[in-house]
Amino acid sequence: MSTTPLDEVVDPFVPERDSTWYRAMRHFWHPVAYSRDVAEGAMISGRLLGERILVVRHEGEVRAFMDVCRHKGAAPSLGWVESGCIHCPYHGWAYNMDGSLVSIPSRPELNGVLQASLLRYLCQERAGMVWVSLTGQPWGDPPGIDEWDDPTMRWLTPDHYDWATSSPRRLENFVDFSHFPFVHENILGTRDKAHIDQHDVWREDGALRFEKVFVEPNVDRMKELLGIEDVTMAVRNWYRLTVPGSIELVRTFPNGRRYALYMVTAPTGPATCRNFWHIGADFAPTDDDMDFLLEFEHLVLAQDQPVVESQWPEHLPDRLSAEMYVKVADDVTLAYRKWLFELAGEFEPN
Ligand code: FES
Ligand SMILES: [Fe+2]
Repeated sequence: MSTTPLDEVVDPFVPERDSTWYRAMRHFWHPVAYSRDVAEGAMISGRLLGERILVVRHEGEVRAFMDVCRHKGAAPSLGWVESGCIHCPYHGWAYNMDGSLVSIPSRPELNGVLQASLLRYLCQERAGMVWVSLTGQPWGDPPGIDEWDDPTMRWLTPDHYDWATSSPRRLENFVDFSHFPFVHENILGTRDKAHIDQHDVWREDGALRFEKVFVEPNVDRMKELLGIEDVTMAVRNWYRLTVPGSIELVRTFPNGRRYALYMVTAPTGPATCRNFWHIGADFAPTDDDMDFLLEFEHLVLAQDQPVVESQWPEHLPDRLSAEMYVKVADDVTLAYRKWLFELAGEFEPN
């Protein structure tokens, strides 16, 4: 009887963490913080694709640097900002707002002689977030939100949340329709209506677009806020998924009222993500009403998180054939993965 030596057995599902899509993520803008969390003259530290990022606001503008001091690698973000300079907490080396080293307190005669800089990244603000690109020529622009300036919408920005999975897995969960009756039973769906109807998915201006009408349970306070008495209601869901990690969902209720959910998932590492979001509504006039909507979203997230974090491997397998898709129900997932892999191929031609 012949046997195969163990080291020749190839498991097709062995995770390759440094996978193609992960490397391709460097070519996009990702959020590292909310704008509101970066005050004038203050610094915060974030993480993106395994790198530590320092964000500072100076004269109103945000700037981003690698959060690693050129002296001995401490995090300058733990230091202080004074006279337009970033001071490292360890030995007080100071860098100006271009990232250039300007002062070495232990050897002042070297000031201006010793040349060194913090690595600087492209950085901009959009939709209430600070976006960073680790490459000089990112693909596309950070996506905005159509309803952001709509005076009838009230917005709430909850704290960001971290999940122990890759950012594409997190994003796919958001647009996975067939999990609603199971993971969110009786709040976003019911098991007797698990069937997913045909819907179109198309590319438009750097985004995947799709729309879907769901018959959903109309629960307690939602009824009150919306002024809709029916126990179920048909909700029109309009989606715009901007590659690689942003999703805008506008839900329109039968009376024309709108609820908007904007979520961006940033890859902090191959199997970790940080998620930033805003919720908006034109039928929640008080802070208390918005808090109710937020509570609902937290319930949904708490139901999703353990299931999504259980997906293995945590990152998307590099081959489309590694997982199975069913027509219609997984159309969005498949369209998203195909596009990601297509882009990854563009950045890494064979
Ligand atoms: S490590 Fe930053 S000053 Fe020494
Ligand atoms: Fe979910």
